[in-house]
Amino acid sequence: MAEPDAVRTFEDGLAQIRATFEQALRAAEDEPQLRLINARYVGPQGELTALLKLMPKLPGNRRRELGQAANALKQGIQQAFDETLDRIHRSARDAELTGPHLDLTLPGRWQMPGRLHPITRIRNDVLDIFVSMGFDVADGPEVELYENCFDKLGFPPDHPATDEHDTFFVDGDRPSDAPTVLLRTQTSTIQIREMMKRKPPLAIVSPGAVYRRDDDATHSPMFFQLEGFLVDQDVSFAELKGVLTLFLRRLFDEHVALRFRASYFPFVEPGGEVDMSCVFCRAWEQDRARTAACRVCKGTGWMEILGCGMIHPVVFENVGYDPEKYTGFAFGMGLDRIAMLKYGIPNIKLLYENDVRFLSQF
Ligand code: PHE
Repeated sequence: MAEPDAVRTFEDGLAQIRATFEQALRAAEDEPQLRLINARYVGPQGELTALLKLMPKLPGNRRRELGQAANALKQGIQQAFDETLDRIHRSARDAELTGPHLDLTLPGRWQMPGRLHPITRIRNDVLDIFVSMGFDVADGPEVELYENCFDKLGFPPDHPATDEHDTFFVDGDRPSDAPTVLLRTQTSTIQIREMMKRKPPLAIVSPGAVYRRDDDATHSPMFFQLEGFLVDQDVSFAELKGVLTLFLRRLFDEHVALRFRASYFPFVEPGGEVDMSCVFCRAWEQDRARTAACRVCKGTGWMEILGCGMIHPVVFENVGYDPEKYTGFAFGMGLDRIAMLKYGIPNIKLLYENDVRFLSQF
């Protein structure tokens, strides 16, 4: 049903919109504002949209004419919208081009890169060398049975290393007949563990933390060792010497010489300590004055580097190997000491203080 008032409402509405839209749209300062104003006219709840809904109520003779007027207005709004949007985009662009420079060369926010601890680096280097010679890598617990740390390795019950003064014992609430437990004092426990688990031929290295009641410039109560051992038939001291010579030459310098001194460890016979020519005064170059002045080797040209020997038959018996059939060698060294020698670190404490000023030098 046509309503006579509808024509008035329609015409007034169009007049009202026509009078305001142009200015309203062109006043917009940015795109969101422009879209908001635009919606006030032609959005779902917009004024013009509301008028168009009145169309069916217009009398037939006016409908076409008023419809065309409304459409023309709609196009006018669209045009004002497009032009304003264009203007907004252009001025944003201009502001970017004429405004302050965006300096793409400014450095980003700096993040301190992490790096490997010197002991970890040395451990990796050392393992690489032994793995290239065919050794397996094994791991073991730091909390260990007294038996694996001492008895099975042939320590007599009164050996000084087993004394309370050298060893951290783990007490806790344990039954009085429970086996004695301690923080391992040496990685030689791995010889016992691996030999009990496997059968020869064996060639194994094992790095890890060990604990002793020691505390001075060259000793820390926790430090790192690397144990190595090889068991087979007819293994000789010559092979031990060959493996250690190759290892130390590859790690330090191809010129280093080795010197074996007799020494005592309960689990090897014969046992020895190995000295290596001093890598600080490059003793092999035989510059007498330089070596005489060297504080690291104290003028001797030699540095003590590790303990070693042929595995004692008692150890083989303790792990159930036939000592008549098998022979083998073992060696153990302090990874901290190797790192100190390799990187020229004067005090072992520096390795454990976690001071970035020190650690970032590596
Ligand atoms: N375990 C010995 C130590 O801690 C080192 C060693 C290992 C010596 C293997 C000989 C053979 O001093």
